[in-house]
Amino acid sequence: MEKSVVLVTGGAGYIGSHTVRLLKDKYDVIIFDSLFRGNIESVPQDVKFVKGDLLDKEALNRVFTENKIDSVIHFAGLAYVGESSQKSELYYNVNVNGSFNLFAAMSENGVKEIVFSSTCSIYGNSAQNPIDESQPPVPSNRYGQTKRMVELLLKDFELSYNFRYVSLRYFNAAGCSPTGEIGEKHTPEPHLIPVVVLAALTGATVSVFGNDYNTPDGTCIRDFIHVCDLATAHISALDYLKETKKSEIFNLGSGTGYSVLEIIKKVEELTGLKVKYNILGRREGDPAVLIASSEKAANVLNWKPEYNLDDMILTAFNWFKNPKF
Ligand SMILES: NC(=O)c1ccc[n+]([C@@H]2O[C@H](COP(=O)([O-])OP(=O)(O)OC[C@H]3O[C@@H](n4cnc5c(N)ncnc54)[C@H](O)[C@@H]3O)[C@@H](O)[C@H]2O)c1
Repeated sequence: MEKSVVLVTGGAGYIGSHTVRLLKDKYDVIIFDSLFRGNIESVPQDVKFVKGDLLDKEALNRVFTENKIDSVIHFAGLAYVGESSQKSELYYNVNVNGSFNLFAAMSENGVKEIVFSSTCSIYGNSAQNPIDESQPPVPSNRYGQTKRMVELLLKDFELSYNFRYVSLRYFNAAGCSPTGEIGEKHTPEPHLIPVVVLAALTGATVSVFGNDYNTPDGTCIRDFIHVCDLATAHISALDYLKETKKSEIFNLGSGTGYSVLEIIKKVEELTGLKVKYNILGRREGDPAVLIASSEKAANVLNWKPEYNLDDMILTAFNWFKNPKF
């Protein structure tokens, strides 16, 4: 029997490439990525790769007319909270217009199933932690705002064109493939765990943005989730869409929060290396605490994280000690 075909936008990126490794066992995969922040080295040899930009409507349309695509996983986008404050136009253009172009191309070509990479940034300064999906989406930064707008687009494409979508609101992705084959490579690298691990390895200084938040040690608290656990959630989400034909939103996190200083201490403890850090002022748009309730994903998708914080730090440490690209 022929495998169903999945178009993966942003499949050369960090979370996309880890998901593709798993997805390709079950589906035929085509990656569409501009390589703006992706790495061609992370694309498996046996997967079709199309270099293209979400803002290029013709290139997008061509992928759908030249291939018989059944569903889409949409990772492609820009994802840095700090950068989004400086570059509003770029973020709205790539994340909102780019997604709109993708949905329009899908609709024109009769493709209606999509799993979308959303984010915990959608919740802003939530009154409740752990946060479940019933909490109001009130983003506190431009990045979260663009992702919320894409969720609204998806809702309207459902109403007008029978789209079926799963929006996965991930908390903070971390860790690398335990095989050491692929990992995280961002330039610049804004994510806390890789920044701290790299500081341990190179002697660089970590910038801590604010120590006057209403948290036990004054630094922000975040919920981290291993990239391979996110990968399995995407397979479950796609299976769910195919079985139920129902749209849904799920949070994906571990349910435990760690402060920035706790992460620094944990990296020192696990690696035996010293981490230097500087306390700077707060960064615009950073909520104090973001912790996920992923009970809905556990109950509906039967998804549970398999990796803990130590695994995230150690797999990242192994990767950054010996990166393959
Ligand atoms: N990393 C996290 O902790 C996290 C948390 C929540 C949500 N997300 C979301 O998950 C998705 C993947 O995140 P990631 O960390 O793997 O990011 P990433 O930057 O590693 O991957 C994104 C990919 O999209 C591609 N891309 C960017 N602009 C494009 C365009 N205009 N056209 C085509 N391709 C383009 C990049 O080249 C890259 O390969 C993003 O949408 C992000 O917003 C990430």
